[in-house]
Amino acid sequence: MAQINPSILSADFARLAQEAEAVRGSDWLHVDVMDNHFVPNLTLGVPIVESLARATDTPLDCHLMIEDPDRWAPQYVEAGAGSVTFHVEAAAAPVRLAREIRAMGARASMALKPATPIEPYEDLLPELDMLLIMTVEPGFGGQAFLDIMLPKIRRARQLIAKHGLELWLQVDGGVSASTIERCAEAGADVFVAGSAVYGAEDPAEAVAKLRTLAEG
Ligand code: DX5
Ligand code: ZN
Repeated sequence: MAQINPSILSADFARLAQEAEAVRGSDWLHVDVMDNHFVPNLTLGVPIVESLARATDTPLDCHLMIEDPDRWAPQYVEAGAGSVTFHVEAAAAPVRLAREIRAMGARASMALKPATPIEPYEDLLPELDMLLIMTVEPGFGGQAFLDIMLPKIRRARQLIAKHGLELWLQVDGGVSASTIERCAEAGADVFVAGSAVYGAEDPAEAVAKLRTLAEG
């Protein structure tokens, strides 16, 4: 079944608990952590994740767009994240980090920026619970979906099948009613949507509509 993870990057940061409530019934809430170094934007950190985890029953899918995830990712598990995604471009020891996240009881996930190929990381896939293929350059919501990422999604799905793995394949960036079907057809099964959900009149209805489209 397709999972839709609303990204609170497009929500009102002064009303996060209500914004989480507005998409009640979503599988996960996607939380974009940016440090102004790995990406040219700054969002939120451990204290806000901790508060949000207390304020909502929806599990948190934390996407760390930060330098030195080896050092910081475990703190997000402690803060209450159910899934922690680090960028492979920033990780010094991705296998060790994925194992640490899992050992602490969260799902371990690894993200690839648009220019990062998947092939060099094939052997890492068994260490992961989810792989995130970025479909925009990380840093900002509301950007246009990069169609040229579709072959990479397909390739990722093939590699997951080749190794007989269960891991989820997430796409993030520009996912909307007009792009989600292409992502699903290419093999994605977890869809992050920020502006397409929080920019809609009724965010919960937008989630339901995206799910229907993804499930074809
Ligand atoms: C971008 C973030 C995304 C962002 C997506 O760097 O990782 O999660 O919120 O926003 P939309 O869905 O508007 O492209
Ligand atoms: Zn994200």
